[in-house]
Amino acid sequence: MAARITASVYTSHVPAIGAALDLGKSQEDYWKPVFAGYDFSKQWMRDNPPDVIFLVYNDHATAFSLEMIPTFAIGTAAEYQPADEGWGPRPVPKVIGHPELASHIAQSVIQQDFDLTIVNKMDVDHGLTVPLSLMCGEQDPLKGAWPCPVIPFAVNVVQYPVPSGRRCFMLGQAIRKAVESFDEDLNVHIWGTGGMSHQLQGARAGLINREWDNAWLDQMIADPSACAQRNHIDYVREAGSEGIELVMWLIARGAMTDVAGGPPPRVAHRFYHVPASNTAVGHLILENR
Ligand code: DHB
Ligand code: FE
Repeated sequence: MAARITASVYTSHVPAIGAALDLGKSQEDYWKPVFAGYDFSKQWMRDNPPDVIFLVYNDHATAFSLEMIPTFAIGTAAEYQPADEGWGPRPVPKVIGHPELASHIAQSVIQQDFDLTIVNKMDVDHGLTVPLSLMCGEQDPLKGAWPCPVIPFAVNVVQYPVPSGRRCFMLGQAIRKAVESFDEDLNVHIWGTGGMSHQLQGARAGLINREWDNAWLDQMIADPSACAQRNHIDYVREAGSEGIELVMWLIARGAMTDVAGGPPPRVAHRFYHVPASNTAVGHLILENR
């Protein structure tokens, strides 16, 4: 009896997607094609319900600020309240954690030589709640609930220095080992969020690189260890300053069984769309065989 990771999910987290949902604009011409890319995914979530979601995301100066910048932070709390800069907290249910599995992963991953910050209390922003809304659909903030407990795993991709894709990929491998050594029969999904190409400030604000994004997706799926060798400066140059969020996808990809010698994952779903706010939206579902 052990927990295991059965699938990984990847998606952009654009805050305007949350606002479009919360303000009832998802069927407007601009947003319709974005949400259509997740119709398959919502059904897939119902057909393949996880017991726990390990959700890799980045905080946008909501829980953390320039006062404290953890590179990797694992949420070990029993619950998390939605909060946000900009638009304010989204009207979505609180996020229920999984303190037992989270603490076990912290113990195992730290013993595998990764430095994690343990977070017993924090709020979660659009980086975490927008992917949940996209994959699980709208929820009543009071009567509704997300389908299962979530372990938030925050990565600093906002303030330099940021972690390399290589280290993120190795961390994913350590997380897989940690999950598989948890003594309970749990079906775990690991999500990598953020990206794809976008730049929110400076002379190149508005940058989108459709060709690079799709080549990156091809490589991330088929040859993740090569993808993990890309330097941070390649992301910034080709995918814009916020394109660096993509290193978080390599944590989820590193946790898939093919990286440990198993068969290649099945691509259950792949979606790419431009534009959504200032971002290219990318989305993938990979299943372990
Ligand atoms: C946008 C995208 C982001 O990833 C983010 O954190 C904030 C804004 C945007 O496209 O507007
Ligand atoms: Fe972001």
